[in-house]
Amino acid sequence: MSEVVGGIFTSHVPGIGGAITKGLQHDPYWKPFFDGFGPIHAFLQREKPDVAVVFYNDHGLNFFLDKMPTFAVGAAPDYRHEDEGWGIAFDRPMPGYPDLSWHIIESIVNDEFDPVTCQTMTVDHAVAVPFELAWPDGDFPVKLVPVAINTVQHPLPSPKRCYDLGKAVGRALESWDRDEKIVIFGTGGLSHQLEGGRAGHINVDYDKFCLRNLAPDPEALLQHDTLDIVELAGSQGVEILNWIAARGALRGSVRELASNYHVPISNTAAATVLLENREKVRA
Ligand code: DHB
Ligand code: FE
Repeated sequence: MSEVVGGIFTSHVPGIGGAITKGLQHDPYWKPFFDGFGPIHAFLQREKPDVAVVFYNDHGLNFFLDKMPTFAVGAAPDYRHEDEGWGIAFDRPMPGYPDLSWHIIESIVNDEFDPVTCQTMTVDHAVAVPFELAWPDGDFPVKLVPVAINTVQHPLPSPKRCYDLGKAVGRALESWDRDEKIVIFGTGGLSHQLEGGRAGHINVDYDKFCLRNLAPDPEALLQHDTLDIVELAGSQGVEILNWIAARGALRGSVRELASNYHVPISNTAAATVLLENREKVRA
């Protein structure tokens, strides 16, 4: 029987990759962010998940503005990291899991979602940076199922649609009958805007609202529509949609084990949250 053991939520600022490459984890600028991963390393040591399902947004690598799916699920045997630069030297293979990808796709299509299915797929910093943060040494011990959400080209999906997608993925995982442990990732955020007159925009109040409610009351995050979130959190802060979807996939009793918030990393309010998911007894 499969088990969803928890959720890891983290910013994916590409500069974090540069800091890892240069070994700057203890540098005063970076330390407050990297310190947030201590509890996550302990959790992963303890739980030893077999699979990671990652809700993230592609930034123009695998999809560009000419073809932008609202939702896409990877079903590739492996995923190459081909990020845009920043001195990141990550070339570790990310093994895929086509059997589980197709199980998820079958199940969510049956639930009336219409994802693009990707049998070849590259991933950018939004997957690679969280993986490097979670498993800094050796090979990645998990098989990856990437779920891409359009947070880039409007119109973007609503927070409720993303939450419902996450719930549908969570139901698919509950019906996966291999004896495997699964960890969910939601990447991106928190508030940030990289361009235009509001470049550097950060909204501590909105970020704290999201962090406060993520575990106990995720539906509170649905009260703002997508354009409200752009206004509140910035044009890239809307990456919180990935967190909302990931939280939807945790369908058991959810408890916060760790939370870290540090402003700024690059132009971003950086946050890391670890949620434990204790499954309710299945019918
Ligand atoms: C930054 C943050 C992001 O989420 C991203 O995708 C690119 C850059 C930044 O703060 O530099
Ligand atoms: Fe981003």
